[in-house]
This record gives sequence, structure tokens and C-alpha cells, in this order.
Amino acid sequence: MARGLPRIYGKLASWFHLLTSPDDYAEEAAFYRRVIVGASAIRPETLLELGSGGGNNASHLKASFRMTLTDISPQMLAVSRSLNPECEHIQGDMRSIRLGRQFDAVFIHDAIVYMTSEDDLRRAIETAFVHCRHGGVALFDPDYTCETFRPVTSHGGHDGQERALRYLEWVHDPDPQDTTYTTDFALLIREGEYVRCEYDRGICGLFGHQDWLRIIGEAGFSPRAVSDTEPGRSVFLGIKPAA
Ligand SMILES: C[S@@+](CC[C@H](N)C(=O)[O-])C[C@H]1O[C@@H](n2cnc3c(N)ncnc32)[C@H](O)[C@@H]1O
Repeated sequence: MARGLPRIYGKLASWFHLLTSPDDYAEEAAFYRRVIVGASAIRPETLLELGSGGGNNASHLKASFRMTLTDISPQMLAVSRSLNPECEHIQGDMRSIRLGRQFDAVFIHDAIVYMTSEDDLRRAIETAFVHCRHGGVALFDPDYTCETFRPVTSHGGHDGQERALRYLEWVHDPDPQDTTYTTDFALLIREGEYVRCEYDRGICGLFGHQDWLRIIGEAGFSPRAVSDTEPGRSVFLGIKPAA
């Protein structure tokens, strides 16, 4: 796995849908669809997702868009393919992938948090710009900005057939001066009667609201922040001017 990425995207990927279930994404996906359609000058039909993970959002968005799903992790692409066999899947790093074609819209959901430096964030947004059609829109949804970040502890998990997972997630920021925060996970993984514990960690990027707008603008998009369904949170849009 690439450095700094949690093992749930590699060796533990087959457990991903018991960590976070596709069914829980219906409302969120409906919000993204409304925002993308509402901000587009063209009627969007094709959607490129960068860092599509387990394909949870895609499992709902695919009813509205023809989707191409990309991720750095071959294991996560396999998880998503099992849920979304009708979608195109391609392996690639959002900082450098070039597909040689454009899409009506580009979507980077929470995978954008793995851009931990301004240079990485700039490269991912540049990738979105290159693949976005004129008049189209790119949507970015970081979990936090500097302004909304709060240390938090949460838990959850799901039951499968003969398998189950429960987790404790601890989000904290060891160095408030840098552009990262840390997510630590204790995963309890049950197969039949046998339970084991795995520790996992993600290093995530943290940027200010104005920095987001600036970097999106510098890529060539017209930047905009839109209120999320969660009070106080925003998603960021890049609108690519009509040619
Ligand atoms: C939380 S998961 C995304 C889940 C997704 N939002 C869904 O709906 O299922 C984050 C994903 O980002 C991917 N990722 C991390 N860094 C990446 C990069 N540089 N390029 C592409 N994908 C990346 C990971 O492999 C992982 O699959």
C-alpha cells in the first residue's frame, strides 16, 4: 500500500463494506447528485470518480450517471467491482492519472483527505480539471477544513454472513501547525466464533476553507463552497467555464 494509507484499503479491503455499508450512502449520494446537476451548465451524463473506494456512493449515483471509477488500490477496485459490476473501473493515483478523455462531472468524495500536502491537493484538483468538460463541474468533499476540525471518537460496524466488524475511530491532530491530522482505528474482526483485533491508521490532509477556494481557482475552475446537509460543513465545487 502507498505510504500513510490505512490497511483497510489493502490487506484488509475485503472487510470494507462491514466498516461502512453501501446502504448508508443513499441520502449523501442524492445530495451530491443534486449539487452536481444544479451547478452544471450541461446536463451531466458521465461522471468520473477519483478515489472511488468501495464504490458506496457509486452504488447510488450510477442510477443517474454513467460512471468511471478509479482508485489507487487494486484491492478496493475489486471490492467496488463486486458491488458495481456495470461500472468501468481503472487503477490510478488521483495526483497523476490521465485517461485522455473528459467527463461531464468529476467527483472526489472523502478520498481527497489522503492529499496531505498543498502540492498533492493541487495535483488532484488539476487531475479533476483536466478530465472535466467545459461547462462541467467537479465536487470535492473533505471530511474537515481547519475551521470545522474537532477531535472526535466514534464507533460502528456491520454484520455480514458469518463475518462481522466493529470499530473504534479516534480522530486527532498531533501537530496543529502542519497540514495533517491522524485517524486511528481499532478494528474488531469476527469470523465465525473467532475474533481478532487489528490496529489501523490514516494520515489525512487539513486545509483552510479559503485555501480550498484558492487552489480550486488556481487550477482554472470557478470555485464555490456549498453548504452540506451537516450544519456548518461545506463541500467545494469547481465549475469549469464553458469554452
Ligand atoms: C474512504 S475510501 C473512499 C470510499 C468512497 N467514498 C465510497 O463511496 O466507497 C478512500 C479511498 O481513497 C483511495 N485513495 C487514497 N489515496 C489515493 C490516491 N492518491 N489516488 C487514488 N485513490 C486514493 C483509497 O485507496 C481508498 O479506496
